Amino acid sequence: MTTAADKQSPIRTKPMPAMSKRYDGRELEYLKEALSRNNLFYTQPDGLVSRMLQRAKEVFGSKYALSASSGSAALHAAVGAAGVEVGAEVITSPITDMGSLIGILYQNAIPVFADVDDRTYNLTAQSIEAAITPRTQAVIAVHLAGAPCPIDEIAQLCKAKNIKLIEDCAQSFGCRYQSRHVGGFGDLGCFSFNEYKHLSTGDGGIVVTNDQKLYGRAHNYADKCYDRLNQGDRLTMLCPNYRMTELQGAVGLAQFDRLEGIVKTRNTLGNWLNEQLSTIPGILPPKIVDGGQSSYWFYMIRVDEQKLGIDRDEFVRRLNLEGIAAGAGYIERPIYQEPVFANRNFFGGGVWPAEKLSGREYDYRKVSCPNAEKVLRTSIRLSLHEGFTKDDAGDYVKAIRKVAATPSPAGRVMG
Ligand SMILES: Cc1ncc(COP(=O)(O)O)c(C=O)c1O
Repeated sequence: MTTAADKQSPIRTKPMPAMSKRYDGRELEYLKEALSRNNLFYTQPDGLVSRMLQRAKEVFGSKYALSASSGSAALHAAVGAAGVEVGAEVITSPITDMGSLIGILYQNAIPVFADVDDRTYNLTAQSIEAAITPRTQAVIAVHLAGAPCPIDEIAQLCKAKNIKLIEDCAQSFGCRYQSRHVGGFGDLGCFSFNEYKHLSTGDGGIVVTNDQKLYGRAHNYADKCYDRLNQGDRLTMLCPNYRMTELQGAVGLAQFDRLEGIVKTRNTLGNWLNEQLSTIPGILPPKIVDGGQSSYWFYMIRVDEQKLGIDRDEFVRRLNLEGIAAGAGYIERPIYQEPVFANRNFFGGGVWPAEKLSGREYDYRKVSCPNAEKVLRTSIRLSLHEGFTKDDAGDYVKAIRKVAATPSPAGRVMG
């Protein structure tokens, strides 16, 4: 039903800005160099992948870094390197991309979902602790949408319980906690270079660590266990081929030059939006943990439907009428509710060896993470990137304020 309010002039009459140009002469120069070397294999000591990794180590302050073909591959290599055993449990977030889960499942370990904080959308040390069992061998802490988990508390907990901590930083290039980049608080940190991330090589990933042994294992893990580092550990375990080529290394090396600018704009605008929106009754801007600095991969608010008198979907519809391309939530449902989990359809024939070996039943239809479910039911996602100006972000504020202040038409009032 179109109401009188719908017909008033919209706040925004032109689309929000597209992403600024992502690739230019810098990438091209390095790509030319890669091609002119007549060898695109990633192990050349002065090659493009090596230099990109050197840059990553400097930026993240980590002792070691290795490349992978994607963020999912980086995470799989990390789970493999961490030595997670068949049938062991790995705790992670229910609000994430399937890439956080793939490595756990392919290693024949068992994903266990801990709940998130309903304002940061991230795991907490308390929620992880509640999910720990004697079978827990690792935690994958996802820093969602550029915002840090309380990662020092989580790291302390994992250390105390002798559990490996893998940070999923796929959405969090440039995100910091207590002034340090995320990725270096746990045993291994994994980043994604897919086309939609802060930095892109089309597809690609990095693993960072300060532990030489884990580095060696992850390196082998990502390269068929071919022991390129000459550790005397050739073909000792089953490993996939997750290699990056010099072409991605070339683009990645250039991309690192852009990181600071990208993060600065996103951080400034995201924090400004938080401030502005926190004054609007019924609007819940994202909360950044104390000591945290977000690089806002996207911007996601929640609405208090009772207070506003309209539900989330109606709020989104009205924002759309104001010319704001808002979306409902991030992923449609917590990842444990997806058919692959609900039906445990991980391998051919519906057999799940991990569960069989564990001697226990893992029925994801019975999993409940109330905060995660509430977050996904009541959240609104807005795009935010380095192509935005304060005026663009200001239109978000104006439109949200206008919709929040518009009286509910009959029939849409919350019960
Ligand atoms: C939180 C998270 N983890 C892992 C991944 C996987 O990264 P990739 O797409 O590079 O495999 C993504 C990608 O969207 C992600 O957002």
